[in-house]
Amino acid sequence: MFPASRKVTVYIVTGAFIAGTFLILSQFYSADGIAQQPISYNAKPETATSSKVANDDTPEGVGAGIVPPVVNSPTTPVIDTPTAPAVDISYDLTTPPSVGCVDVVNRNRNQLTEIFTRELKGIRYVNMHGYLETENKGDAAIYTAQQMILASMGITTMEACRFAEGKGCNATAYRKALEDHKPYSAIMMAGGGNFNDFYWEDQPARIKTAAAYKDFPIRSFPQSIYMTKPEKIQQTFDSFSAHPDMQLAARDKPSFEWLQKHFGSTKVKHVLSPDVAFAWGDRSDIRKNIKKKYDVLILARDDWEITHSSKDVATGVGELDLGGDVGKVSYRKVDWKKTPTPLIDGVDENGNKLPGPAGQREMGKEQRAFAKAMNGFEMLAEARLVITDRLHGHILSTVLGTPHILMDSKLKKNLNYHDTFTKDCGCTRVAMDGMEQALEIAGKFFKANGGSLEKLKAAGEVGNDMKDNN
Ligand SMILES: *[C@@H]1O[C@H](CO)[C@@H](O)[C@H](O)[C@H]1NC(C)=O
Repeated sequence: MFPASRKVTVYIVTGAFIAGTFLILSQFYSADGIAQQPISYNAKPETATSSKVANDDTPEGVGAGIVPPVVNSPTTPVIDTPTAPAVDISYDLTTPPSVGCVDVVNRNRNQLTEIFTRELKGIRYVNMHGYLETENKGDAAIYTAQQMILASMGITTMEACRFAEGKGCNATAYRKALEDHKPYSAIMMAGGGNFNDFYWEDQPARIKTAAAYKDFPIRSFPQSIYMTKPEKIQQTFDSFSAHPDMQLAARDKPSFEWLQKHFGSTKVKHVLSPDVAFAWGDRSDIRKNIKKKYDVLILARDDWEITHSSKDVATGVGELDLGGDVGKVSYRKVDWKKTPTPLIDGVDENGNKLPGPAGQREMGKEQRAFAKAMNGFEMLAEARLVITDRLHGHILSTVLGTPHILMDSKLKKNLNYHDTFTKDCGCTRVAMDGMEQALEIAGKFFKANGGSLEKLKAAGEVGNDMKDNN
């Protein structure tokens, strides 16, 4: 559905002094190395680098829009001038989002494969670092996707812990597994959004692990990075730069620039990579096979990262009046961090204990993560349109090809990701101004697609929005 010039441009550069090849995602750089400004009609998108949160507390280089000079970095981007797209489709608010996004999903997935085939070369056994036992369906989708990537590269996961010790992790077993498979073993740090100094739990654990495991390679799936506190940045730098074989990854351009700035002159390797959840590949089958229950799913954060007015819509199931020709549509509003996944915890959807063997908790980490992730996919696929301020609401909707409207979060991680990797997906529209604007776009979507589910059912029709556009 996009002209050929929109196709991903992947440049493989072979360096004479560098073992292996380095994938450069040069499409994200204009001639001056600054992220391309999205062209908009109705919206006023900020670039990822003109962050609202870039205030006086923000250290130079974070959100400053400058690619710092990098010395001796194996991942220095080759500056190129790709053909600029005529419009970033997701910022075009004159049209509603469409169904299907296979091109973008495949591109993100292929990039992941290339990057981690290279970064994990020689490694056959890993201990996971950063396994999260939460109900957040996005984190679960990340964990399962990581297992898919590792398995596709013939790598066995041995121990999986949140940290290398404590929190239910057997530190003796953790080290022993690595020792038993030396020199083919490594610590694999999970991807996600906790490489920051706001939630100070996962980052200090990484700092500790990097210091304690200098005798094993450390590899990382991509993170959104946001650190503003000088002493915490210093601790991170001191620990990581002292490790002899460490690789970090960023999943958006500002995060990658942060890594370049802080680790550009060290031996810590750093790469820009799509979010690992794209390892799921195209899952339009889930979208097609799940019966639509609601017109709109509002998947909204209910924490301090929230930036907009989604609080004005009540949690649960109800009706939204979109006005005009469309009128009322049905909705479900949920924060998927708070919904128990049926079956694995021995409870039903409402959290009530099930009788008999069904009431037993599933202990397998793969099984638990997979069930939670599938539950997340199903939640999204039950709706004709998704409105979300969760990054994985956007990413998993993209994987499904479900039309959706994306709002940002306080740390800008949603639009930073979107602007780096997914802005040419026809199934996304960005509501910069929040919920009210999202509902306006929703109105356009239902107007173009025959009105509410109830109206369609009454007319004996299935909406044309159920079909793939690509
Ligand atoms: C921790 O792992 C070690 C080595 O595998 C094992 O001997 C020990 O019993 C384990 N400890 C616990 C509490 O499970």
